[in-house]
Amino acid sequence: MARYKIVGGNRLSGEVTISGAKNAAVAILPATILVRGKCRIENVPDISDVRILLDILKDLGASVSREEGGVVEIDCTNVTSTHPNPELVRKMRASYYLMGSLLSRFGKANVALPGGCNFASRPIDQHIKGFMALGASVEETEDYVNLTEGPMGLHGNRVSLDVVSVGATMNIIMAACLLPGRTIIENAAKEPHIVDLANFLNTMGANISGAGTDTVKIRGVESLRGGTYAIIPDQIEAGTYMAAVAAAGGNVLVRNVIPKHMDCITSKLSEMGVQIFNYDDSIRVISEGRLRCATVKTRPYPGFPTDMQAQICVCMTIASGLSKLTESVYETRFFGYCSELANMGADISISGKTANVNGRKKLHGAMVCARDLRAGAALVIAGLAAEGTTYVGNIGYVERGYERIVEKLTALGADIQRIED
Ligand code: EPZ
Repeated sequence: MARYKIVGGNRLSGEVTISGAKNAAVAILPATILVRGKCRIENVPDISDVRILLDILKDLGASVSREEGGVVEIDCTNVTSTHPNPELVRKMRASYYLMGSLLSRFGKANVALPGGCNFASRPIDQHIKGFMALGASVEETEDYVNLTEGPMGLHGNRVSLDVVSVGATMNIIMAACLLPGRTIIENAAKEPHIVDLANFLNTMGANISGAGTDTVKIRGVESLRGGTYAIIPDQIEAGTYMAAVAAAGGNVLVRNVIPKHMDCITSKLSEMGVQIFNYDDSIRVISEGRLRCATVKTRPYPGFPTDMQAQICVCMTIASGLSKLTESVYETRFFGYCSELANMGADISISGKTANVNGRKKLHGAMVCARDLRAGAALVIAGLAAEGTTYVGNIGYVERGYERIVEKLTALGADIQRIED
């Protein structure tokens, strides 16, 4: 098994370039199934979730080629199978997007239930609700979802989500793209990666409006042609590096960001005493490593993202005073990392949806283990800020979502190595 060995105490300096957004890429790649033609997609992050999806698409009959610099060319014209390889599907969460794209293109899909980070119960009932509203017959077993065209055929419809769900919003957008009629998704999620998916599909000839608001409208079209599209920068990767500078101290220019997407994170780090300067497509982050306590409540976009909960918690563990961190999306997300941080000296008490974090002077190095993607990233940040050496195990989680994290942190002056046990 591989681990990270991190010797803490180095301040971070220099520049880091943010990669393409994981949660946009893992939707846009399955969405190429909707396109009869070649899609040239730029700024695709080289992470394991992407590599698995490309293997799934190849297995379905797509032609896939990768160029240097994050460019992927995919042509799904000759895809015929509607049964993606279940072994690969179960390796990640976002494979559920294959349901919507295969249903819209072929009128059927037989997809294994997804895997991925299991920090909470992550149902897909809202996805299913959407597919049924669009006229699909749904058969769910313990392991599979089988979608077929219902007796009334597949057609546009109004879908009002009971929960603000990123995945369901994106899956229904994909499912509706090639269906006759108009689909309206109400109570839709508004994350930047949803807008990115809609922009990609519209570039290929779809007719989607309202993405980024709570009401998304899709008018079905006959077919989508090929084209070129560049994925947006990763809001959460950028936020993770900003939190690393905040906790370890330093002066870093974070390049290839959309500052507007970072507002919720920027404002909280500023509140904690971090100096932040926004430029057109970059952000400078300066911290002496001495932070003020804060109160944070995670919310769907444009609120403070749940995917930054663990990272901001690390900053709180070394901030002066008592911080409060309340989770509104996944109640049990704290359990993926708080006990590991306690092994490093953090003083965190969890009560229901809130973690009360009593700031300490310093964390100390320890042997810790990632239990999900963002928990693993948080433990890396903790190791950078801690006194002594930290070993982070289960780093496969981290490498699902952070391209070349060891190289990027090393370039900033961090003492981090990937070691094979
Ligand atoms: C996406 O997950 C992201 N994953 C998650 O990022 C992120 O934490 C989450 O959105 C919230 O922003 C990808 O995009 C691949 P949801 P998703 O559907 O779509 C409930 C990361 O670290 N819900 O928005 O699965 C659900 O239980 C990952 O990059 C239902 O009840 O999240 C949760 O409480 C972790 N029924 C809430 O909605 C459903 O059918 C939000 O979930 C779907 C969701």
